[in-house]
Amino acid sequence: MLGDCTLFASLLLGATGAFARVNLPALPGDLTTPVQQRLAIYGPNAMSIGWNTYSKLNQSCVEYGLSEGCLDSRVCSRSASTYASSRTYSNVVVLSGLTPATTYYYKIVSTNSSVDHFLSPRAPGDKTPFSMSAVIDLGVYGKDGYTIEQDETKRDTIPDILPELNHTTIGRLATTVDDYELVIHPGDFGYADDWFLTPSNLLHGKEAYQAILEQFYDQLAPIAARKPYMASPGNHEASCQEIPYTSGLCPEGQYNFTDFMHRFGNTMPRPFPLASGGASNSTPQALRARARALANPPFWYSFDYGMAHIVMINTETDFPSAPSGHGGSAGLNGGPFGSPSQQLEFLRADLASVDRHQTPWVIAAGHRPWYTTGLTSACGPCQKAFEGLFYKYGVDVGVFGHVHNSQRFLPVVNDTADANGMQDPKAPLYIVAGGAGNIEGLSSVGKKPDFTEFAYDDDYSYATLSLLDEQRLNVKFVKSATGEILDESVLFKSHQERFVVQGV
Ligand SMILES: *[C@@H]1O[C@H](CO)[C@@H](O)[C@H](O)[C@H]1NC(C)=O
Ligand SMILES: *[C@@H]1O[C@H](CO)[C@@H](O)[C@H](O)[C@H]1NC(C)=O
Ligand SMILES: *[C@@H]1O[C@H](CO)[C@@H](O)[C@H](O)[C@H]1NC(C)=O
Ligand SMILES: *[C@@H]1O[C@H](CO)[C@@H](O)[C@H](O)[C@H]1NC(C)=O
Ligand SMILES: *[C@@H]1O[C@H](CO)[C@@H](O)[C@H](O)[C@H]1NC(C)=O
Repeated sequence: MLGDCTLFASLLLGATGAFARVNLPALPGDLTTPVQQRLAIYGPNAMSIGWNTYSKLNQSCVEYGLSEGCLDSRVCSRSASTYASSRTYSNVVVLSGLTPATTYYYKIVSTNSSVDHFLSPRAPGDKTPFSMSAVIDLGVYGKDGYTIEQDETKRDTIPDILPELNHTTIGRLATTVDDYELVIHPGDFGYADDWFLTPSNLLHGKEAYQAILEQFYDQLAPIAARKPYMASPGNHEASCQEIPYTSGLCPEGQYNFTDFMHRFGNTMPRPFPLASGGASNSTPQALRARARALANPPFWYSFDYGMAHIVMINTETDFPSAPSGHGGSAGLNGGPFGSPSQQLEFLRADLASVDRHQTPWVIAAGHRPWYTTGLTSACGPCQKAFEGLFYKYGVDVGVFGHVHNSQRFLPVVNDTADANGMQDPKAPLYIVAGGAGNIEGLSSVGKKPDFTEFAYDDDYSYATLSLLDEQRLNVKFVKSATGEILDESVLFKSHQERFVVQGV
């Protein structure tokens, strides 16, 4: 968050400083070249592949198969979409009928593209241990972000990490590529709405916003083209009106989560139908069907992966006093994206449908936390809307960001630590993993609630969640620059109840 003083300082700097053009990436000679690639888990046997192009494709196609030399399947769509102020078109295809947990090779069809690969989603109920990374508040690097010392070192596992991305979270995600199977990123991607913090952008807001999006999603592509990258919204996706002063500069096509919707709207999944035989009575299936109907990806949705049920919520709009909604405290006037109670009804039905015999772990992720150090960024309306449902239906872990540092709390409900601590608590374990790095810099830890277990604001960091087995989940915080483990803990949950409904 930035005060008006910062903006004034930037305006002054811009007015007196030297003037350069915005940092729009160079157009590829071949306008069908895929850029900004992104994968997502789309169903128990399905993966979506999204990418952008600088020309409108008549057909968006992907070839894929089980070996690099034999891409014997092909799927196409006519999905290309764009919006006012964008230079690119978003494309998406869905690869379905995949064998679970299997390496597939794929090539986005273009006169200038190459083969990449991914691991198809683990089947719901697969009890194989796996890890996921939680990365929030990431931000563009290079000229429109923090510029980092150049280094020519090439990586061999994932090619084409830009040199200036060394010592960042993206760099660490590349060097540890074999250690995690997916990434969750609940909100605040490129920080395009902070374009005015780079003085040379000041008189070119329209282009600068777009330039940051293009740079950021290019920087992310080496990771997101290899690993499912699951997105939900943050305040920086809402509008270029992050500071109301700039509202006069915000062009059509940049309000109301526009880019976020185009980019991820058709790539994020709906809740998976419960597998037949997965539950003994019909009620959970009916609840899941209701959750499917009420889901609104990429704003709120869920998916299953191995022994996890993961639900992504929208802390920005679509609940009472939502901060980025109409009249909300952030002044961003986004949404609504559903009927008045749709998101909360979705969450109720979705959580109630979870069969812990199949997916013992329930992880809920959103942008704004209600438990945080520093306290002033705690989202009161979010707590009011979501905390009771998290507790009632036994969410195991809550993952948040928004505050630019790393934090872990004891399991807690209603601002009171669970007496069981990490040994089979009823309350969720909450973490904040908002220190991934962005142009606004890190937030100091500040005042700590008494149930704080860990807080770190010295350097960029992110979290990994490792699902060890049906009863143990390991949480680590990683220093992005070095890979050092800053904090490690294990949550034990007995997961005895098949369908959890808890009273006080
Ligand atoms: C082909 O794609 C590569 C990698 O994305 C890019 O660097 C290059 O500029 C493209 N070439 C043309 C002719 O567009
Ligand atoms: C797309 O379709 C139009 C009209 O059918 C055709 O003129 C054009 O060459 C096609 N473009 C590509 C890239 O195939
Ligand atoms: C990152 O850059 C530093 C020097 O700035 C270098 O020592 C280090 O090897 C680089 N790391 C990687 C993974 O490229
Ligand atoms: C934002 O977009 C949604 C979905 O298209 C629409 O229903 C809503 O009215 C829009 N809100 C504003 C403030 O334009
Ligand atoms: C938390 O507080 C709410 C509102 O006062 C109350 O209804 C609920 O029972 C409390 N939950 C727990 C687990 O104490």
